[in-house]
Amino acid sequence: MTAGVMEERQSMDGYQAIAAYWNEHIHDLSIATKPIGTKGFFDELDAYRFDKLRYLPRVVDFSGYGGKKLLEVGCGIGIDLVRFASGGAEVTGIDLASRSIELSRQNFEQHDVSGAFEVMNGEAMSFEDASFDVVYAHGVLQYTMNPEAMAAEVFRVLKPGGTAIFMGYNRRSWLRLMSVLLRTPLEHMDAPWYRMFTSGEMRGMTRLFSEVRLTYERFPVPTKLHKGWKATLYNGVFVRGFNLLPRFLTGWTGWHLMVFARR
Ligand SMILES: C[S@@+](CC[C@H](N)C(=O)[O-])C[C@H]1O[C@@H](n2cnc3c(N)ncnc32)[C@H](O)[C@@H]1O
Repeated sequence: MTAGVMEERQSMDGYQAIAAYWNEHIHDLSIATKPIGTKGFFDELDAYRFDKLRYLPRVVDFSGYGGKKLLEVGCGIGIDLVRFASGGAEVTGIDLASRSIELSRQNFEQHDVSGAFEVMNGEAMSFEDASFDVVYAHGVLQYTMNPEAMAAEVFRVLKPGGTAIFMGYNRRSWLRLMSVLLRTPLEHMDAPWYRMFTSGEMRGMTRLFSEVRLTYERFPVPTKLHKGWKATLYNGVFVRGFNLLPRFLTGWTGWHLMVFARR
């Protein structure tokens, strides 16, 4: 980040800085080869995401919420939300970044599904209490100013008995170790707010909820983002070696801390 950009960010309100960053750095955009906004573009990013996050359809039943009111906080370009909508959920997506919301709308048009979208801060939502059956926030707590406030808002807008699904980054992860050893920064570490959590911190943030279940997910898969000798070493040696180790030894190092909770 240049000094000018840094100064501009510091002079902005924190939430404006988050919106400005994510308007410029749409998640996974760097991998796209198809023109932005086309069906090919969204399908390419969906394929990339679900190859990288192959655990996700195993732990989140995208077609299991038919007829339910589902909110995604920090929906990005709506890749997961299209899957929920295709599965029959009545979906709403919010994000601080207006470009994400525009692209989410285009994604829904391209896939011929319907959803409601709004630029909104997930820490201070305008929805009534107890509005949704399910609230999903994947990869958002770690990029907002006050993740505790976001978790409390999710609790507020959920109906009693409703389900919350969060994903936060694990501070004690294999990926963080690799990033230090290979001196390669992790994606979006330059975001205005970026943090990692211990499992205890994730549990602490979701203490308002009942039936909190935490799982460790996302283990090494070959990178398509990086090139050169580091990527060759990573893909050829590390990914293979790591995945030969028994999961009971490495399970606690999963990069994604998934929390499933009930209001
Ligand atoms: C890493 S992206 C994740 C996008 C999407 N959930 C996914 O998994 O691809 C983080 C998103 O969270 C949004 N975000 C960060 N803080 C937010 C807040 N307080 N309210 C709403 N959205 C927020 C950002 O604008 C960005 O689109």
